[in-house]
Formats: sequence, structure tokens, C-alpha cells
Amino acid sequence: MKNFDEQMKKRAAEITSVIRGYLPEAETLSARDGAVDEFQNTLLDAMNYSMLVGGKKLRPLLMQQTYVMFGGTSNAIRPFMAAIEMIHTHSLIHDDLPALDDDEYRRGKKTTHVVYGEAMAILAGDALLNLAYETAVKAFAEAPGDPNVARALEILTRKTGAYGMLGGQSVDVEYAGRPLTDEQLSFIYGLKTGALIESSMMIGAVLAGASDKEVEQIERAAHCVGMAFQIQDDILDVTGREEELGKPVNSDEKNQKTTWVTVHGLDEARETVEQYSKEAVRLLGDLPYENEFLDELILNLIHRTM
Ligand code: IPE
Ligand code: IPE
Ligand code: MG
Ligand code: MG
Ligand code: MG
Repeated sequence: MKNFDEQMKKRAAEITSVIRGYLPEAETLSARDGAVDEFQNTLLDAMNYSMLVGGKKLRPLLMQQTYVMFGGTSNAIRPFMAAIEMIHTHSLIHDDLPALDDDEYRRGKKTTHVVYGEAMAILAGDALLNLAYETAVKAFAEAPGDPNVARALEILTRKTGAYGMLGGQSVDVEYAGRPLTDEQLSFIYGLKTGALIESSMMIGAVLAGASDKEVEQIERAAHCVGMAFQIQDDILDVTGREEELGKPVNSDEKNQKTTWVTVHGLDEARETVEQYSKEAVRLLGDLPYENEFLDELILNLIHRTM
């Protein structure tokens, strides 16, 4: 894929315009004289700030491309694309808080807690998580009577919670400063990062009508994408350029995080990223459907620099 990072930026902009339709209209509200809603305008602004400021929009893209792979054509995917990005953004706002990774730079801008204060950042994160479910529920109206919407909603809620992303984040912070085995690290990565990527691809498949067996295969492939993605994130934390990443480097060292890089070194970590990514494409290849762009996307993530 030529100019991978450029293509990602273009697709992110397209996806942002889909997501924008589901975000609160903070400016309109502040302009509306005397409207009751304007009292919480700071919260609405803080929610929009991080959603619209940047980011690769990778999870909605993976969802959309898995949907396309299984031949999906309805608009029911749109609210779910917005919802997964809201959940992801909630996880980033909270991940950057002083109580967690204490980072001041995200998506090329000051983090939400730096701009709006800690209390508002906590609330904006919570409100985005809630808005995600309010938004996903709109898929029922897009596809009336389609049982796959409820299947998708079940996956979205489960993969976000204590047995998904939030469970992974809790172990990540609790085990900071300790040496970790590969099994413990893989558990953390599979949940804190893998779960939302699994959720994205599984929902794409489910909404297009994939069978339970096919969705399980997608979950296995997406698990590999998630592992590769987090290990590459660890690599970029050491080797990346802040201006390109849009977030600080050496955050893991600052927080005494044991990572794939501290355990295995850069070369082996790079190899593992490649192995997981190729395994993901192999698993997708076992399915009777194909999306060349999705394969290429997964392979290009091996060398991503942002
Ligand atoms: C960052 O995710 C957090 C991890 C799970 C490693 P991304 O690298 O997808 O962040 P954005 O959305 O592009 O900002
Ligand atoms: C983040 O892991 C995973 C989630 C936010 C759920 P990191 O803490 O490594 O992510 P970055 O590097 O801050 O984006
Ligand atoms: Mg973290
Ligand atoms: Mg972090
Ligand atoms: Mg990181």
C-alpha cells in the first residue's frame, strides 16, 4: 500500500464525518440563548475535543472493512462505528489521567485533563462511554427487526467491561513496576487493546450476518491484530517521534511499565508484531470471503509510525 500513513489520514477524515453526526452539538447549544442544555456545554465541548482532534480511527475502519468483507450493505454499521470510537476515546481520556499514565499530549494536542481539568476529563470520559451505548442503540432504527443488532450490542458491551478493555487496564495499572511473564503481559494486551479491536471486527461480521463459527474465527484473527497493535505501540513508545505519534514517547518507562520491549528487546518485539499480523491474515484467509484491503491494512500496521 503506497503512502500508508497518508491513506490512513484520508480514511480517518471520512470516518470522522460519519462520527460527527452522532456527537453533541456543543457550539449550537452555546449559541442557543437560554437553552437549558447550555449549562453542561463545557462537558459537551470536552467530549468533542478529543473525538475530533485527531486519531487514526482504526477501530471503525476495521469494523467497516470486516463488514464489507462479509458483504454488509446497511446503515446499521454507522452508529456502531461511532460507538466503538467513543469507547476507545473514553479509554484514552482516562488512560492519560494523572491517576493512570499521567500524560499531557494526545492526538497531537494537550490531553483533555490538561485543557479542561481533571474533574471534567473524568466526566467527559464517562459521558462518551455512555453516549456510545446511546448511539449504538440507534442501529435498531436503522435495521428494524434485524436480530444481529442485539448480537452486536452484546459484543460491544462485553468487550468493553471488566472482562474486556477495562479489565485489561486495571491489571495494567495494578501490575506496573513488577516483572511480568509473557502470559501475564499477553493477558493485559489481549484485554486492554485486543478487546476493542476484537469487538470492532466481530461487530462488522455480525451485522453482515456472519455465523457464530465465522465470528469466532474473526475473534481469533482480531486477537492477533490487537496483540500486534499493542506490541507495536510499545515499540513506538521507545523509538517513535512525538510529533508524528501525537503523544509522548517514554511514557512506559516513566510509569515503570513492563512491556514486550523491556522483556524481549526491540528486535524480537518487531518479529512478534510481524508474526501476529501474518497469523491474523492467515486466519482471515481460512474464511470463504475476502477483503484485500483489510489484509493489506493489517500487514501495513506492522510498520506504522503513528
Ligand atoms: C492507542 O490507540 C491506544 C492503544 C490501544 C495502544 P491508537 O494508536 O489507535 O490511538 P488513536 O486512536 O490513533 O489516537
Ligand atoms: C492503552 O495502552 C490501552 C488503552 C488506552 C485501553 P497504553 O497506555 O500503552 O496506550 P497509549 O500508549 O497511552 O496510547
Ligand atoms: Mg496505559
Ligand atoms: Mg497510556
Ligand atoms: Mg503505549
